Amino acid sequence: MDLTIRTSTDADFDAEEWLHGVARGFLLAPRMSDAEVADRLARPDPGRLRGAFAEGRYVATYRSFDQRLTVPGGTDVPAHAVTGVSVHPGHRRRGLLTRMMTADLAEAKDGGEMLSTLIAAEDGIYGRFGYGPANASASYTVEGAEAALPSNWTLPEADGTVEFFVDGSLVRSAGPELFERFRLLQPGAVDRPAHWWGVVTGKIASNPAWQEPFYVVHRDPEGTLQGMAAFTTDQRWDRGVPDGTATVHWFVAATTTAERALWRSLLSVDWVRRVKADRLAPDTLLPELLPHPRAARVTAVNDFLWIRPLDVPAMLRSRGYAVEGELVLEVADPLGFAAGRFLLTAGPDGAECGPTAREADLTLDAAALGTLYLGDRPASRLLALGRLAEGTPGAARRADLLLSTPRRAWTPDIF
Ligand SMILES: CC(C)(COP(=O)(O)OP(=O)(O)OC[C@H]1O[C@@H](n2cnc3c(N)ncnc32)[C@H](O)[C@@H]1OP(=O)(O)O)[C@@H](O)C(=O)NCCC(=O)NCCS
Repeated sequence: MDLTIRTSTDADFDAEEWLHGVARGFLLAPRMSDAEVADRLARPDPGRLRGAFAEGRYVATYRSFDQRLTVPGGTDVPAHAVTGVSVHPGHRRRGLLTRMMTADLAEAKDGGEMLSTLIAAEDGIYGRFGYGPANASASYTVEGAEAALPSNWTLPEADGTVEFFVDGSLVRSAGPELFERFRLLQPGAVDRPAHWWGVVTGKIASNPAWQEPFYVVHRDPEGTLQGMAAFTTDQRWDRGVPDGTATVHWFVAATTTAERALWRSLLSVDWVRRVKADRLAPDTLLPELLPHPRAARVTAVNDFLWIRPLDVPAMLRSRGYAVEGELVLEVADPLGFAAGRFLLTAGPDGAECGPTAREADLTLDAAALGTLYLGDRPASRLLALGRLAEGTPGAARRADLLLSTPRRAWTPDIF
């Protein structure tokens, strides 16, 4: 069957039916609930939707939208984010994703986008389209939380205050501004759409399984909000002894004092013997801020944000560099968007990047450049893996020094 790809600019595009297609594609439900459809259709700027339409329904879905991505050096850049990718059973492995993605990336390139981002459900899907894993996220379990901190621990006055059980309305009113301060300090963070705060506080009833969490906030000694987190507990007791597990659903800290204060406070809740959290920074302060770091166990570390270069000079000019350096990169790209040889001249005061005829220091493909961009994976590691080649001895080590960041790139949000 020859399937036509429809896009949201076509007159016969049905956005509601497309949403049901997403629900089926992600095996969530045969149809999306009326409440969720209404909420999603009301959101501003849905971006560009695509889908393969057959017999009155979408059997494949795809969406891209404008995003801001914080890059090393403390600026955010425009990103072409991809999400909602699904191809229904019965239509898989016939090239539908390939058709939707290559058309969308070509439009993004024509529109002057410098890079594309996504979060991959599986690690085998997107490398062929020029995306490389650019950072990681970690899951932690802190066992015996009570044993990890002294039982009489309280937050020192100089570190500000922590308040438990604040109302969801405070989270909605103060959270967005706090998150904006945090995200511009954190390479890898992406902007959070306004509806995120309504969804996680139950104001927008999109998830029937949603349970109201407890919210906790940190304020500095001047009273400014510097951190916020949400957790639920399972209320478990074992033969009269508390054995509760607290699950931290999200965590924002705009200062390291807030980061330490919130974790220590979460680990000092009576009846909670264990704290679990997913999607943490790969270099979270969590283990070492405990008197006994071994109380915190890493339960998983996985790739998280994937980056696909589209305009290499624009990308490399946009990020910051802590040291002076020069690199000639030869980028191969079967789709053509990022191919070329480029000279990067960078330093703490800014960077220049453009085409060059000089000999290449490093030869790599677009996906490998996506992996290097946020500085989370050293070029030396990609060299060891055979994912890039050195034209000049020592060039990978030079790239390591040029691209590295003090704290690792982290993307707290799924999109
Ligand atoms: C992943 C998915 C979108 C792929 O769609 P598709 O239309 O089958 O992909 P294509 O037919 O265009 O495949 C292109 C290539 O990728 C490969 N590929 C597709 N899905 C793959 C996967 N999950 N793992 C490894 N390779 C995959 C195909 O084998 C094909 O390779 P080839 O060109 O060498 O033959 C589809 O399987 C799906 O909807 N899965 C469930 C939902 C999901 O995971 N969505 C992604 C959310 S991030």
